[in-house]
Amino acid sequence: MKTINNGSLNINNVSDVVELYGWVQKKRDLGGVVFIDLRDRSGIVQVVVRDGSSFYDLAASLKSESVLRVEGIVRERESKNLNIPTGEIEIEVSNLELLNSSKDLPFEISDDTTALEDTRLKYRYLDLRRSSVSNNLIVRHKITMAIRNFLDKEGFLEVETPILCKSTPEGARDYLVPSRVNKGKFYALPQSPQIFKQLLMVGGIEKYFQIARCFRDEDLRADRQPEFTQVDLEMSFVDQEDVMTLTERLIAYLFKEIKGIEIKLPLKRMLYDDAIDKYGSDKPDLRFGLEINDITEIFKNTTFTVFKNVIENDGVINCLVLKNKASEYSRKSLDQLTEFVKTYKASGLAYLKFGEEISGSIAKVLTDIEINALKEQLSLVDNDLVLIVADNKKSIVKTSLGALRSKLARDLNLINKDDYKLLWVTKFPSFEYSEEEGRYVACHHPFTAPLDSDVDKLINDKAHCYSKAYDIVINGYEAGGGSIRIHNEEVQNKMFEALELSEDDIKNKFGFFVEALKYGTPPHGGLALGLDRLTMLFTGTENIRDVIAFPKTASASCLMSECPNVVADKQLDDLNISIKE
Ligand code: AMO
Repeated sequence: MKTINNGSLNINNVSDVVELYGWVQKKRDLGGVVFIDLRDRSGIVQVVVRDGSSFYDLAASLKSESVLRVEGIVRERESKNLNIPTGEIEIEVSNLELLNSSKDLPFEISDDTTALEDTRLKYRYLDLRRSSVSNNLIVRHKITMAIRNFLDKEGFLEVETPILCKSTPEGARDYLVPSRVNKGKFYALPQSPQIFKQLLMVGGIEKYFQIARCFRDEDLRADRQPEFTQVDLEMSFVDQEDVMTLTERLIAYLFKEIKGIEIKLPLKRMLYDDAIDKYGSDKPDLRFGLEINDITEIFKNTTFTVFKNVIENDGVINCLVLKNKASEYSRKSLDQLTEFVKTYKASGLAYLKFGEEISGSIAKVLTDIEINALKEQLSLVDNDLVLIVADNKKSIVKTSLGALRSKLARDLNLINKDDYKLLWVTKFPSFEYSEEEGRYVACHHPFTAPLDSDVDKLINDKAHCYSKAYDIVINGYEAGGGSIRIHNEEVQNKMFEALELSEDDIKNKFGFFVEALKYGTPPHGGLALGLDRLTMLFTGTENIRDVIAFPKTASASCLMSECPNVVADKQLDDLNISIKE
């Protein structure tokens, strides 16, 4: 068995006789001496074979990625390379065995490869040999181990829940699995273990966790995969503060263990409404300022028709201020920002450049009173740039300026990549209005408890009904989310009524669950952290595929195994399924 990690050898091992295994990362034949960089998961070590050695011809003929067994003695190098941990030593070969050779490679196995991601994903097993990929898996492993360790000490039980289940109400589309035995019937893959973890609480488990695979058929983004992993937990006899305190202690523990970073607790807390108002997002990135300002009041007497109409329609006028940047933005770059906000449904982006004279798309229509009011409210000085969105719908103004805020921070390098800013966002609305369905739908799942003060609003005032839901946000990512659940039948019925679910809907969708809640359900709540996202944050990548061994592409396929794929007619026949033309 291989017992030595190549990357662990150093000057203290000089004169040791070692037996090493690994892949040929690089071979340099200097005529008279062959140097081999022998790589394993831990790193590389230099192996030397000199002319006269019976292994010289073999060494000289080695191709990249051949697999070797090497015996030799550790020697201090004449010319040292202090850039790598093993750079002070090399292995003088006494025995060299070629265990396997490799075909010509589709791309070079190096950390600075220029290979396209598609090629790397097609040959992911080769990509995994690159330390930049395997290091991410090592961090992921460390996070998982630390989580298990922490939660075990806190009295949590790790319990597995089914993968073949009934549809779960998380809001995305389900992946379905046809049943052969029960023809015409389908299992759904779990979008999360939500219902099961609540049933574990009914079952008296009290403290549960699971490193759980979840499946959601939704549009993919840089931080979303169709199958992903949650650190899912649930606790009985707790309130919102208890779950949040436990979670932030866990997160702080992970930062300490994995990154050596001390996180100050308790974490900052922000109300959902404030997050939307100031940052245009329920997952604000607090590594930079650039807050959204509400300037509606300033224009209450405006004659400028666009703003006037917005105010008459109860809309809002908001802006971002870029300090000392007006001269850096040309007409063309401002047009590009306008196009950007339009993708978020804003009708346009007005701008003002402050200086001796005020210029910009709406400079001419402003009165002195308005200009002075802007100067005062926004503390404007020369060369400040004001970017304004006005719309009848507050949500459009906030979302578009929130997205612009993040874009500008990236464009202007306002983000310190080594910084971590964590916060809780709390008091989410219970419902959001779905234009598509023409009714209020649940923001979370239908078992999320409303605030005690808002129970009656479930029926009379859905727009102002808030819930005991909370998200933990790190650097602009929703790293996790959860809630206190409804454990009272009367409140649960009100929630179903609010969601306009008929008796039949309730019975068909989660009748078994509603039945279970009637048998002495303890008060309970929990949360799920996105393990992939945590790993992204700890490894500093913005691409979720970098932290998953075998990820899917943006079109939810695997380039390596070519799934999804057609199946044999016989398999479809067994399932009594035919494919529509
Ligand atoms: P939620 O839907 O907020 O909550 O999911 C919890 C966390 O899972 C991560 N996440 C994802 N990561 C990668 N790809 C995806 N497609 C994806 N979707 C979600 C996010 C998110 O914060 N059952 C509830 C939890 C609870 O109430 O206890 C749930 O699933 O980091």
